[in-house]
Amino acid sequence: MLLHVLLLLHASGGASSSISCYDDQGKPVDWFYLYKLPHPHHEPVQEGLKYLFMDGESEGWMDGKTLVNDSQSAVGRTVGPLYEGGDVGYILYNDQPPQKQKLFGDATRSCGHTKGVVVFDKQQGFWLVHSTPHFPPPKSQGQFSYPASGISNGQNFICVTYPFERFQTIGTTPNAFNKLVMVKNWLFALQVSLVHPKI
Ligand SMILES: *[C@@H]1O[C@H](CO)[C@@H](O)[C@H](O)[C@H]1NC(C)=O
Repeated sequence: MLLHVLLLLHASGGASSSISCYDDQGKPVDWFYLYKLPHPHHEPVQEGLKYLFMDGESEGWMDGKTLVNDSQSAVGRTVGPLYEGGDVGYILYNDQPPQKQKLFGDATRSCGHTKGVVVFDKQQGFWLVHSTPHFPPPKSQGQFSYPASGISNGQNFICVTYPFERFQTIGTTPNAFNKLVMVKNWLFALQVSLVHPKI
């Protein structure tokens, strides 16, 4: 049961949504694919924070406008609202969660080798599937950051923006979500009362 990990949410309706996948310019996009380049040996650490970016309107890869750890990067702009006030639902899961963030114990073979960030409000949201260990920082950290553990290797981030209704069908019930992405042991933060107010 996930009951005990739920936090109370006080919903309010109204304003237009700021929850979306974003590009480097801060423009909301339907989807993006971002590849954080590997860190070449003996190069400055900044080289391991560069990335390539592609969305529905780009004609192939573009160089990232900044570094992936910058709050103005596409990843930073997209995940940033998780750390701001406001009525957002979220599901953070990672088979390599941030330290001391595991809610459900250690790895078992039956769990997904999966990592992702789902954030939504009553209008829309995004699902960011990625490969970065210990990402994202927990909401309690208060702001976006990028972990040192994600610098050496190349990492990918695939983000899709969905309307609110879609989150009821892509599996935000505990059972459906567990079946879909097999994350039970990796879930480290959950707030889904926007879609399932009775949970
Ligand atoms: C990103 O990481 C680089 C290299 O460690 C650092 O110089 C820079 O200040 C960081 N940027 C932010 C916004 O934290």
